[in-house]
Amino acid sequence: MARITYDNADAAAFEATRHLTDDGLSAWREAVTRHLDPHAGMRTLDLGSGTGMWAQAFTDWYDIEVTAVEPSEAMRARSIYRPVVPGDAERIPLDDGSVDAAWISTVIHHVPDLNRAARELRRVVRPGGRVLIRSAFAGRHQAITLFRYFPEAIRVLDTYPSAADVEAAFTAAGFTTVGFEQVPQVSAPSLREAATALRREAHTPLQLINDDEYAAGLARLHRAARTETGPVVDALDLLVLA
Ligand SMILES: C[S@@+](CC[C@H](N)C(=O)[O-])C[C@H]1O[C@@H](n2cnc3c(N)ncnc32)[C@H](O)[C@@H]1O
Repeated sequence: MARITYDNADAAAFEATRHLTDDGLSAWREAVTRHLDPHAGMRTLDLGSGTGMWAQAFTDWYDIEVTAVEPSEAMRARSIYRPVVPGDAERIPLDDGSVDAAWISTVIHHVPDLNRAARELRRVVRPGGRVLIRSAFAGRHQAITLFRYFPEAIRVLDTYPSAADVEAAFTAAGFTTVGFEQVPQVSAPSLREAATALRREAHTPLQLINDDEYAAGLARLHRAARTETGPVVDALDLLVLA
């Protein structure tokens, strides 16, 4: 079970507020290019593809094949990338060695059995192929703006797997860590726009704090948005395994 349901309301909020612009993603494009070494015909899995932002971006950026796999029917229904295959990390509906690389973005904390998922990825990614994991890991809230206004949500983040937990599962499955870096993104043009657009259902840590904590954080965010200028820049981690 994922930590949240990814039902219709979650999927609608995610689609409406979590897709980033190409400009906002420029550092991610540069990091992915460096670690993935995309080339014509390369076969890539987007696991837990959600509403398809990354599968679509990879297809726009590179001349590669992307197979999107997503367990939630509501997320699949709203995907901007097609086709999307039903499936999850513990049962990836692909043949052995059938992809050159896998991309897993803000999914790993929803996976109930990390060891089993790592073994499945070892099975479907060809030997020497890479797994790129984009995530907010436990203990790594400092570069993510929302946690400044919703500090109680750090408590939720700290129940996610740490980077070391994920590395341990993948190492046990036969992978080696070949990279770990923090990558910035422009999440919104201004704090004011971020505050106006914010949807609680689009953020797992905000769903899992209580209503009073959420209301207090929202008030702090709107107060700060009256005076803060400049874009909202967040940084998530990229863990690369081969
Ligand atoms: C925060 S969304 C991220 C969506 C997309 N990867 C992105 O970055 O835009 C998390 C996604 O993980 C999916 N998910 C939940 N449990 C999963 C599992 N066990 N295996 C694969 N995906 C899972 C959810 O359905 C949801 O679409």
